[in-house]
Amino acid sequence: MTDRRSSPGTAEILEGYRQYVVPSYARFPVAFVRGKGSYVWDAEDRRYLDFCCGIAVNVLGHASPVIAQALEEAAGRLIHCSNLYYHPMGAELAETLVRWIGAGKVFFSNSGAEANECLFKLARRFGEPRGAFEILTAQGSFHGRTLAAMAATGQDKVRRGFGPPIPGFRHVPFLDLAEMERAIGPATAAILVEPIQGEGGVRAATRPYLQGLREICDRHGLLLFFDEVQTGVFRSGRFLAFQRLMEGCEEEVGFLPDGIAMAKGLAGGFPIGATWIRDPYADLLGPGSHASTFGGSPLACTVACAVLHHLEKEELGRQIREKGERLSLELQAAASPDRGWIESISGVGGLLGVHVRRDARSLAHELLAQGLLVAPAGERVVRLLPPLNVASEEISEAIAILRAANEREATP
Ligand SMILES: Cc1ncc(COP(=O)(O)O)c(C=O)c1O
Repeated sequence: MTDRRSSPGTAEILEGYRQYVVPSYARFPVAFVRGKGSYVWDAEDRRYLDFCCGIAVNVLGHASPVIAQALEEAAGRLIHCSNLYYHPMGAELAETLVRWIGAGKVFFSNSGAEANECLFKLARRFGEPRGAFEILTAQGSFHGRTLAAMAATGQDKVRRGFGPPIPGFRHVPFLDLAEMERAIGPATAAILVEPIQGEGGVRAATRPYLQGLREICDRHGLLLFFDEVQTGVFRSGRFLAFQRLMEGCEEEVGFLPDGIAMAKGLAGGFPIGATWIRDPYADLLGPGSHASTFGGSPLACTVACAVLHHLEKEELGRQIREKGERLSLELQAAASPDRGWIESISGVGGLLGVHVRRDARSLAHELLAQGLLVAPAGERVVRLLPPLNVASEEISEAIAILRAANEREATP
């Protein structure tokens, strides 16, 4: 690399990655240098409307003063003190999460895979007295890239080439209650699903499915876990997607899983993971049973508290619900069985899947060239994940780019 004070161009940055960074990601050939609100700028100062948001992370967009101020405050006060001690921000963040979810306790970590790992260990602790350790998950699911999270993930391609998977995970067809119940054996300790499969193509569970899973778990003495790493933090319009899916039914009040993994948007881009565990199971993980050096640092908790309080104060859940609905309806209107590539739209709020009749990755690349960032999910879906404080005009701008690209393809 050349002189750090001169700004490198895209070619130079890409070359630095080619030479020095492990090539484990399929990256698009663009390098971002700054952002503001819903926009990011590349090294040549081209502007992009960001409907990828770090894959559902930047809930307040880029360069949010809320986050900047929280970071500055915490950095000047107490960044880290280890989990040998207590600090007020950990208690405050956990109390907020418990208030928004239900009676229980929270374990803090740094990522989605780690938040799931806590659930895996909880299931094994819970099942241990009767020799149960297995977790049933859904085909098409995604739970992360550590060895255990990879084994939990219901997609063969994620596991390929890494030897024997960690034992204790089996994958069952998504949305099929009868198959789920049939799969339960003496070693089964828990069931884990995403209320809306994100990486698996924005496939939402239904209310009867979630209720059915709860009943199955109660009948068989299993724990029910939800992976809300991608769907949580108001992306669906409610704090957690299961709350949105259960909305309006008699059983909504009091419906709870036994554990929930969260991460991504929790601190708007600052790394944090959190696992909520329902009473009384949280106490299964007693002193010495689980730990994370950085998990729940004063810095991470301060930023997460600031982000969550801002989301609540500004009612950004309600706002993204309305804006997402318009985005979904207007794109649905552009869908046609035989013209253009838009086939259908799935998802809710700020987690929408555009199902397409062409390769999703090459489409995402083309949209990038037209100034719109989207996140592919599998081969035939691109996800739209705007910031939760996206402006109505920015939704209109995204619709215009998507419709124009779709129209171009429809024109012979
Ligand atoms: C549902 C779900 N679970 C877990 C993960 C893994 O999170 P992380 O990459 O933070 O480990 C992801 C990441 O995309 C996810 O979407």
